[in-house]
Amino acid sequence: MLRVVTRMAHTSVSDIPSLTFLYRNNELEASKHPPLNGASPAYNDRIGLFCGDITTLSVDAIVNAANTSLLGGGGVDGAIHLAAGRGLRAECRTLGGCSTGLSKITNAYNLPCRKVIHTVGPVYDDIDPSKSEAALRSCYKSSLELAVQNGLKTIAFSAISTGVYGYPSNGAAHIACDTVRKFMENGDGEKLEKVIFVTFESKDVRAYNNIIPRHFPPAPGTENEATQERTAGAETDTS
Ligand code: APR
Repeated sequence: MLRVVTRMAHTSVSDIPSLTFLYRNNELEASKHPPLNGASPAYNDRIGLFCGDITTLSVDAIVNAANTSLLGGGGVDGAIHLAAGRGLRAECRTLGGCSTGLSKITNAYNLPCRKVIHTVGPVYDDIDPSKSEAALRSCYKSSLELAVQNGLKTIAFSAISTGVYGYPSNGAAHIACDTVRKFMENGDGEKLEKVIFVTFESKDVRAYNNIIPRHFPPAPGTENEATQERTAGAETDTS
């Protein structure tokens, strides 16, 4: 029987556009709402945004949206285990599971990345959203900490909890961006060369395109004229 192996093209870190590149090329625009943070060229050079399959990224670590068993599932968890091969599940089986909000790290086996960080996001609780927010924040923070502890320089996050676990895309994007920004502002963040947000469904593409510019606004000189007019308008915007 002929085995057809289709290998998706791999994407290297240098091929993943930074925010600086996206602003310069009018692929990302300043928000019409007032920014939540100051503009930082250094941060905008080190934040990436990629729409597509996270299993194709040749980065140091990809972050999987796992469940507490760590034994695989559907969504991005299923895609990562399928692409990694049986070795990943065998290693996960030795980890004894993982609590919601926490993260564990494994090898990557047949994936092009070096390591997989498995984080367990919250099932969104619309009765007590603050509990879900705290758990989601912890997913991003513990994943970043694991990357630094393991000497990893580039990390790509899937949109944790925004699929099966039902976390609203806008709220999840705010938590993701705010947690990453705060991590980069403390000492450890400088050890990371690139933090990439990976979107897959259009709802998350829209969410990140709208929300990233509020947390990581364009630095002066990297905006195109249209964005400059919009930014000027936002500054006088009292809303
Ligand atoms: N590459 C990148 N992102 C992906 C991919 C992929 N190949 N496949 C799905 N996604 C995106 C989804 O569009 C969503 O934005 O990953 C995000 C997370 O969705 P889920 O995978 O459904 O994860 P989550 O919502 O955290 O639910 C976790 O689902 O698959 C099970 O075992 C998993 O029980 C756990 C639960």
